[in-house]
Amino acid sequence: MNRTPIIALDFPDKKKTEDFLGFFQGKKLSVKVGMELYYKEGAPLIDWLKEQGHDVFLDLKLHDIPNTVYSAMKILAQAGADMVNVHASGGTEMMREALRGLEEGTPAGKNRPLLIAVTQLTSTDEEQMQNEQLIDRKLKESVLHYARLAHRAGLDGVVCSAHEASAIEEATSPQFLRVTPGIRLSGQMLHDQKRVVNPSRARRIGSSMIVIGRPVTQSEDPVWAYNQVVEEWEMET
Ligand code: C5P
Repeated sequence: MNRTPIIALDFPDKKKTEDFLGFFQGKKLSVKVGMELYYKEGAPLIDWLKEQGHDVFLDLKLHDIPNTVYSAMKILAQAGADMVNVHASGGTEMMREALRGLEEGTPAGKNRPLLIAVTQLTSTDEEQMQNEQLIDRKLKESVLHYARLAHRAGLDGVVCSAHEASAIEEATSPQFLRVTPGIRLSGQMLHDQKRVVNPSRARRIGSSMIVIGRPVTQSEDPVWAYNQVVEEWEMET
């Protein structure tokens, strides 16, 4: 999976996705497909994106018993995604089985999809974590703990806020990916994201990949907006 900014294709169907990608006239992009689009269009959508030369992060956040996740990952590896994910809270064995499923499902001659873990969802705050999950710790401690578990289970990285990226790097390794959503260009609308950073700051504070949605997908000029993101992301600091 290349390290260019990942565009979140949060569209309801293939038609809307096609209209959006049409702006880019054949440029090869890194894109993220989430539950909405995947549940509507299924594996043929991944084939189609791959045929166009895009790198695909399939963001389905699997969380189930180890054997079920193993079987599902075997199928997702065959679908040709470049990166997939699970919830770290599913446990070490589940993460190991996810990895085994990917290894076994990857067709000969292809690279195994990268596997990353969600630690605590950014929609979970400390109070909710303590009261509902009964984790009597700071939220950041829980995030770091899950990142360490994912690292030990052999995963390639985690989804995290840019603000957590450098602590995760320290707790794991520089090669362990920190994939960061919540990116906005300076002076832009925040939508429902709360703690946002711009692409150059994300890089400076330790993100290894960024995910950006609405500032590009809902822009009047998506190509311009995307180019701004790339330029900031690649800026020498
Ligand atoms: O439109 P926006 O840039 O906010 O989109 C960010 C994308 O990243 C969305 O697809 C969203 O679901 C996803 N995401 C997130 N925060 C997380 C994990 C994923 O915003 N912690």
